[in-house]
Amino acid sequence: MRGARRRAAALLTAPALAGASALLWAAAGAEAIQLKDAPGRDLTTGRCIICHSLEYIPSNAPAMNRAGWQKSIQKMKDRFGAPITDEEAKQILDYLDGSYSGKS
Ligand code: HEC
Repeated sequence: MRGARRRAAALLTAPALAGASALLWAAAGAEAIQLKDAPGRDLTTGRCIICHSLEYIPSNAPAMNRAGWQKSIQKMKDRFGAPITDEEAKQILDYLDGSYSGKS
């Protein structure tokens, strides 16, 4: 009985753990970087790390502005199928434009 209850609890917490695991993986990985602290950071981290290192963000920042990030997010969605809603894309764009736009 105790075992069955534990399994049920594990099933209930699985979705939450799946969400956190990307962040844990990032924290443990050699390439792990911490994005700048600003509103939208957690959302950006969670969405962008699904496929590749977050390092892509600061390393592209010098060549980016709002329009550039807009295109980049759109490309991640259209070409690579990034699971980002329009509302999330807006928040991510505000974050990237505010923290990682080096080009005026
Ligand atoms: C569904 C997978 C996926 C997601 C999610 C994703 N990307 Fe990408 N991204 C790729 C692929 C594939 C490439 C190009 C291949 C490579 O070099 O890894 C890439 C490349 C990039 C590049 C390098 C320049 C370029 O356009 O090739 C940047 C910058 C970038 N991604 C930003 C982001 C940001 C910001 C997010 C979060 C909003 C994000 N990506 C989410 C798949 C994804």
